[in-house]
Amino acid sequence: MWKNVTPAPEDAILGLTEAFKKDPRAGKINLGVGIYKDEAGNTPVLKSVKEAEKLLMVAEKTKSYMPIAGEASYGDAVQKMIFGSLCDRSATIHTPGGTGALRVAAELLRQFSSKTIWVSNPTWANHNNIFAAAGLTVKEYPYYNPKTKDLDADSFFGALEKIPAGDCVLLHACCHNPSGVDISAAQWKKVAGIAAKNGWSALVDFAYQGFGDSIEADRVGVEALLAAGVDMFIASSFSKNFGLYRERTGALTSVAATPAMAETAMSHLMATARVIYSNPPAHGGLIITTIMQDAALSKLWNSELDEMRSRIAGMRSALADGLTARGVPMDCSFMTKQKGMFSFSGLNKDQVNFLRSEKAIYIVGSGRINVAGLTPGNMNFVCDAVAEAMKK
Ligand code: LMR
Repeated sequence: MWKNVTPAPEDAILGLTEAFKKDPRAGKINLGVGIYKDEAGNTPVLKSVKEAEKLLMVAEKTKSYMPIAGEASYGDAVQKMIFGSLCDRSATIHTPGGTGALRVAAELLRQFSSKTIWVSNPTWANHNNIFAAAGLTVKEYPYYNPKTKDLDADSFFGALEKIPAGDCVLLHACCHNPSGVDISAAQWKKVAGIAAKNGWSALVDFAYQGFGDSIEADRVGVEALLAAGVDMFIASSFSKNFGLYRERTGALTSVAATPAMAETAMSHLMATARVIYSNPPAHGGLIITTIMQDAALSKLWNSELDEMRSRIAGMRSALADGLTARGVPMDCSFMTKQKGMFSFSGLNKDQVNFLRSEKAIYIVGSGRINVAGLTPGNMNFVCDAVAEAMKK
């Protein structure tokens, strides 16, 4: 079977972690994969999550199958998080991570849409792979301008205007991965208006809710699309905001025109989930439901989320200040305006390779730095190395 097969390429993000693990150098730093680290460089289990797990340990009575869609209480908790309240023209299923949600959405787009999805240039490296594997045609719309290090607004809106009815557009709800460049509330209104007028649907990747400004403020895009009556899927991930990475906890929500259509959507969400993974892994979803239904645990979780967000903001400023102090040939103020875990640093492939081979600092080939992996302990070393790379 494998005789004439060449090895698959290393994954652009998780493959980097594999290479990092094998690197014998002391002091190596992984700023590739989007994982939050605390001041000490650890990725601890959130206290709210540990407390919920203690409760679950006692309360759990069975390991029997989950319903195909997951527990209804989980679907309600997800809707309250993404919309602020329940939405009667939507259907939510519990999926294995945000990736599972994207795959189910892609399968449904292949069955019920024009089979073409538009992604931003650049986008998360795995988007293209997931959509292509589900049989969709993937096209790109312009998004980021490397010169201004900001949104290429004219090209972006110009391209959205030309997308045909029935196609789907992948939008990052907040904390655009990898650029960190988000669109404003007014721009979201414009996007939603174009979608409603031209008849394309949206697939909203909501992997970083709470890492931009807050759980509430980060809903701005979803709210605009909802108000404009756009058909959409929302792929949620709780890897980052609950720190549940390895529990693979996500959700897919379909927003339809009417409650009856949402019921139809639910039947297809379930039918598709059943043939891919049958029913979801329980643990992460039970943790989230437990936290969301308990006022004290919700408060604790919110404070932990605030703490993660403000630590990342602090690291952004320290990185920009550190590079500026070292006289790098660029204005670094853009770094503090970017949202979420990542900074699109502007480093080119050679500079990225230099950091890996000479300094044992791993960042994604696109020049994306995981700012959430910077700590007071590694900041000076990273600033020295990045400044040296930038001056090359
Ligand atoms: C990332 O972009 O680093 C994360 O979303 C993790 C992943 O699965 O790629």
